Amino acid sequence: MQYTAKTLDIIKQRSHCLVVACYEGATLSDAASAVNMAGQQQLETLVKREEFKGKAGQSLLLLNPIGIAADRLLLLGLGSPDKDGAVSVENFRKAVAKIPDALKSTPSREIAVSLADIKVKDQDINWQARQVAEALELSTYRFDKFKSQPSENGFAPTKLIFGCDKKQVTAATRGLETGKAIALGMNLARDLGNLPGNVCTPTYLANEAKRLARNQTKLTVKVLEEKQMKELGMHSLLSVAAGSDQPAKLIVLEYKGGSKNDAPIALVGKGITFDTGGISLKPGAGMDEMKFDMCGAASVLGTFHALLELDLPMNVVGVIAASENMPNGNATKPGDIVTSMSGQTIEILNTDAEGRLVLCDALTYTERFKPRTVIDIATLTGACVIALGNHASGLYSNREELAQALLKAGQEANDRAWQMPLWDEYQKQLDSNFADMANIGGREAGSVTAACFLSRFAKKFAWAHLDIAGTAWKSGGAKGATGRPVPLLVQYLLNNQ
Ligand code: BES
Ligand code: MN
Ligand code: ZN
Repeated sequence: MQYTAKTLDIIKQRSHCLVVACYEGATLSDAASAVNMAGQQQLETLVKREEFKGKAGQSLLLLNPIGIAADRLLLLGLGSPDKDGAVSVENFRKAVAKIPDALKSTPSREIAVSLADIKVKDQDINWQARQVAEALELSTYRFDKFKSQPSENGFAPTKLIFGCDKKQVTAATRGLETGKAIALGMNLARDLGNLPGNVCTPTYLANEAKRLARNQTKLTVKVLEEKQMKELGMHSLLSVAAGSDQPAKLIVLEYKGGSKNDAPIALVGKGITFDTGGISLKPGAGMDEMKFDMCGAASVLGTFHALLELDLPMNVVGVIAASENMPNGNATKPGDIVTSMSGQTIEILNTDAEGRLVLCDALTYTERFKPRTVIDIATLTGACVIALGNHASGLYSNREELAQALLKAGQEANDRAWQMPLWDEYQKQLDSNFADMANIGGREAGSVTAACFLSRFAKKFAWAHLDIAGTAWKSGGAKGATGRPVPLLVQYLLNNQ
């Protein structure tokens, strides 16, 4: 999609649809009033006739509006403003989310938006433009490459003109770029997540990372093969790959946008391209959804995509531990003991707790970059879905300041996390009679003990863990990857450039 911020003549601007807004009680915004005046009070008449109240999330579409050059006019409800005349962040988002919804049955492609006269509580024009761009770019997403007929329905915008004052153009342009970059990152993460396990293998993920780096001067990608991982002592990671015919890959991305000596932020992704559970085989029902077990890796690649789009002046490292978890004759068995790259030994009591086994070696590998912070992202536990559902990612950290920064980024980007405890009391659930630790901690607090396990490999840096098992994809009729937590991660990077 193409994005432009400029001063708009809302009467003369040609477009397939002009978008304006209205407050609760059917009070037209300044832009909507101007349109109304130019069109013989048509808008006012229709608002009354259709009993349009202007509640947040309501919309009214006019075909062939009188007095303006646009083919259609879309009126968005904003709800009630506060005493300073500002609408809430939630209501503005609700209104913007209505644009694709309201236009999906029309052939509208070029959209002009005149919302700059709306005050949003504590937000500026950059933020507003970003919301509109993100919503429109996300609405273009389709995943129909495996359908013999492409889906033809839906809204397919190609151009957004964001109207604002002349002095706001620079800020609005940056907002449009940010929204677009986040949405493109999410759409890449969604694509990779939605791909089936027979296509999206560890090798596929490695190639995808290399493709991102093509023609980029700031990004380099290196892929470690099993042989090199063995030399490094990554026997925990390799124990997961042992039962699969697909070779594991450790994918290392280095983005150098900052100065040479700036310590990087590191993003470490779980990339299990299919999780059968291994010898501790999962039950059959719903097992197809374990193709999404690489959504942590996908969010790392999506975030790097956004990082390249935004050309941020900072250093970022990505490490992706990619493997299948399969049960062939070479597979790891319950009770097997492995030595991790850190030297700590692990008794594998359940081969289905494989995410932590690949991540622990990826975390140890990450030490070499002397990162200022390390964030791992993983569809790690079903228990996290039980605890938090689909609304928040589980957040754990060994530094309170980092936890707070990530919570804030999630709030700002509308991609929230919720902090969970990482108390010492939980650690003893990982005791093993035969090795330094077991890879499972029993039925209680399953998401916490998984994080506790990882914390033992994150002692040398400021570290946070995002358990995205509940947020990375949707089940049921709307089954598909969400692209989360790309917005949170990009926001965190934006806040720390
Ligand atoms: N990938 C799964 C976690 C998962 C399960 C995410 C269901 C979303 C939905 C992970 O590898 C796993 O199997 N975890 C086990 C851990 C257990 C054996 C301690 C789980 O959550 O059941
Ligand atoms: Mn598993
Ligand atoms: Zn898994």
